Amino acid sequence: MEKRPFYVTTPIYYVNGLPHIGTAYTTIAADVLARYHRMMGHETLFLTGTDEHGQKVEEAAEKKGLKPKAFADEVVAEFKKVWSALNISNDRFIRTTDADHKAVVHDLWKKMEANGDIYLGEYEDWYCVHDETFWTQGQLLEGKLCPNEWCKRPVEKHKEKSYFFKLSKYTEPLLKYYEEHPDFVLPDYRLNEVKSFVSQGLNDLSISRTTFDWGLPTPDDPAHVIYVWVDALTNYLTGSGYLVGDSEKYETFWPATVHLIGKDILRFHAIYWPAFLMSAGLPLPKHVMAHGFWTIEGGKMSKSLGNWIDPMETIEDYGLDALRYFLMREIPLGPDGDFSKAGLVGRINSDLANDLGNLLSRSLAMTKKYAASLVPKPTDGNSPLGRVCKRAEEKYNEAFSKKYSPHHALLSVWEIIKKANQYIDEKAPWVLAKDESKAEELQGVLYDLLESIRRVGVMLWPVMPDAIEKLMAQMGLDETAITGESLEGWGRLKEGLEIQRGKSLFPRVDKVEANKEQKPKERKKAEQKPKEEKAVEGVRFAEFSDFQKLQMKVGVIKSAEPVPETDKLLHLFVDTGEVRSIVAGIAEHYKPEDLVGKKVVILVNLKPRKLRGVLSEGMMLAAKSKQGTLRVLTIDGGDLPAGAKIS
Ligand code: MSP
Repeated sequence: MEKRPFYVTTPIYYVNGLPHIGTAYTTIAADVLARYHRMMGHETLFLTGTDEHGQKVEEAAEKKGLKPKAFADEVVAEFKKVWSALNISNDRFIRTTDADHKAVVHDLWKKMEANGDIYLGEYEDWYCVHDETFWTQGQLLEGKLCPNEWCKRPVEKHKEKSYFFKLSKYTEPLLKYYEEHPDFVLPDYRLNEVKSFVSQGLNDLSISRTTFDWGLPTPDDPAHVIYVWVDALTNYLTGSGYLVGDSEKYETFWPATVHLIGKDILRFHAIYWPAFLMSAGLPLPKHVMAHGFWTIEGGKMSKSLGNWIDPMETIEDYGLDALRYFLMREIPLGPDGDFSKAGLVGRINSDLANDLGNLLSRSLAMTKKYAASLVPKPTDGNSPLGRVCKRAEEKYNEAFSKKYSPHHALLSVWEIIKKANQYIDEKAPWVLAKDESKAEELQGVLYDLLESIRRVGVMLWPVMPDAIEKLMAQMGLDETAITGESLEGWGRLKEGLEIQRGKSLFPRVDKVEANKEQKPKERKKAEQKPKEEKAVEGVRFAEFSDFQKLQMKVGVIKSAEPVPETDKLLHLFVDTGEVRSIVAGIAEHYKPEDLVGKKVVILVNLKPRKLRGVLSEGMMLAAKSKQGTLRVLTIDGGDLPAGAKIS
């Protein structure tokens, strides 16, 4: 595989808040990508940190009676503590108050100015302090609220002298850039959002403020502090070694491979940041990957609602690697997801305890019993299990290196785990053991299982480093065995190695009642409904107005996988203009992989609900024959895009 440097960043988080499950998600995802690339032997740089300037932080510090820097120091200590507990392997923790950062921001400013893109003007419009974002009157929600759907806080009117960046000049160059680099913004549907925003024409951007002090002064006019987003975005350059004498590092790592962000800050990364870099004549990052947002038990996470998820508490209750696994496995980087205790417990019990844990404990127990705890002689890897490993590993590498998708990488590891469990049942080593003439076959089956587990261990290490190091120890290996190279070819697990059975790595967790959000009364009502409908004889006419209540759209299925611990349900992510999570009772009729790419019909305004702890935001239409054949409704021809209205 091509060995190229890999530079991944997270957003730098505001210090007016503490780490939570959302910020932990981005940071874990970046960590998983960085660990994968390090494991593959690629030069890797992983940057995270904090955004410490700006009005919002100044106000938060004031409330605590602290100077902003002292306030930030306290919060930074907390971030570092949580990231260390989450096993985050960043190479640098950057703070916008770091000494080397200011010089880089000034350098960028001067380059943009030299290019004729900065001028002094007067700003008169609205400002959302929480988002540190400017809005025009027309963009506001009724009641003068911030139009960001995750914010909606009151905005402030601002009229002040300000330096402007000629963003308008970059409307065309940006559109051209998106056209020529369709993978600049990932996933692809997010690029469409960006394009449609830019194609309406961009206004110049106010990039300095005079009404507060907490920020970097502009290079030549200290009455102005630099807009916090100019300051913040530049952290990616500072972290790459730009201008601090470390030019070799910069030469290696810039442009960044991928800026991992939440969808809330896409505009800053996919519009402002490339425009600043174009203006300064610097290369643009290769990708901006915008993931979705987590809701908590179906609702927006907020301290006041009491559904704030503290990563530290979750680790204490369920274990670090279970949390890392859940976050990476539950949704791909892109659509929104729902964090629920039932969902987490379901994943632990089904994927980790049942699938992986059982595979390990059964294989090790049989090695003890039938091979005196010693790894048998290597096979040629040409068994069905060996072949599944090979195929799955190709998909795994592609998921990481092309799609930046730990989710898809995990799906391919699970193909091996499932096949290995099936292999045990099919080969029934306990039956082979009864027949002397099958002794060689038995040893071969054991080797195939152990070698597959070793490979699974290596592949899972980026997601669950702690648990996998323990798993490797049970295989008689240490962490030096965890390298991408060890996946090349079959048979690296050495004959005669002694396995060390240990305690269960993934114990089952008590079930959380999956549907507890539904009140008993509502459940009863829902159960009675079909009976009432059956009682009606003959045809029931619907008014056209009834039909109009249903909003249906063309959806393209992006991914599909079984809902854990069910036989009937599949969990789909469907692009209906925006990607939504849908649970469909079609597992007995379709293989998940056969659904991906299909253009289907989705009822999008069905009230969202949870099925077995998984959020369903709509319904996929299907038809069923009397004999029980079920087929989903698909769209004729290829010329209708996802999101097209059905009426
Ligand atoms: N300081 C800016 C970023 C500057 S980057 C040059 C900022 N900070 S933030 O503290 O508000 O963090 C925003 C990021 O936190 C999101 O982009 C996302 O990575 C993460 N998340 C915050 N809430 C989240 C969820 N509920 N779900 C998933 N991620 C979320 O914006």
